Amino acid sequence: MDYKLIDMTVFGDRRGKLISLEGNKNVPFDIKRVYYIFDTIPDEERGKHAHKDLEQIIVAIDGACEFVLDDGQFRETIWLNRPDVGLYIGKNMWREMRHFSYGCKLMILASDYYKPEEYIRNYDEFLKGVG
Ligand code: TYD
Repeated sequence: MDYKLIDMTVFGDRRGKLISLEGNKNVPFDIKRVYYIFDTIPDEERGKHAHKDLEQIIVAIDGACEFVLDDGQFRETIWLNRPDVGLYIGKNMWREMRHFSYGCKLMILASDYYKPEEYIRNYDEFLKGVG
């Protein structure tokens, strides 16, 4: 399973907390794109795809959601619910997001620009690719 949860260093004092993410330092790739997901709906699922050639770090900046991670052989479910934990997902990993809390905000750092052609959106096609 090419995913891991990364505990990020928090700079905190009486004013609040701060986390810094830097490419090839505490983020294990060059950051080429950042996007964020907000105004999510608890009953609506997102994701349901894999990437042939993309690495990502996902942070639940606010709120929580459940991630299903699948490498074609094993399927695991984790909760992403802390702004100081990043979920790293490597290449060729099927992911689904669901059970978003109200107001959940996800920030995603990606190793490449948006390239629709490198998505695998069909689960059977994904299984053939990793089999
Ligand atoms: P989608 O892949 O459905 O999001 P999720 O992974 O959360 O299920 O993307 C929603 C829309 O946003 C879709 O029309 C493609 C577009 N999009 C971009 O234009 N650039 C991006 O970097 C991303 C991630 C999506």
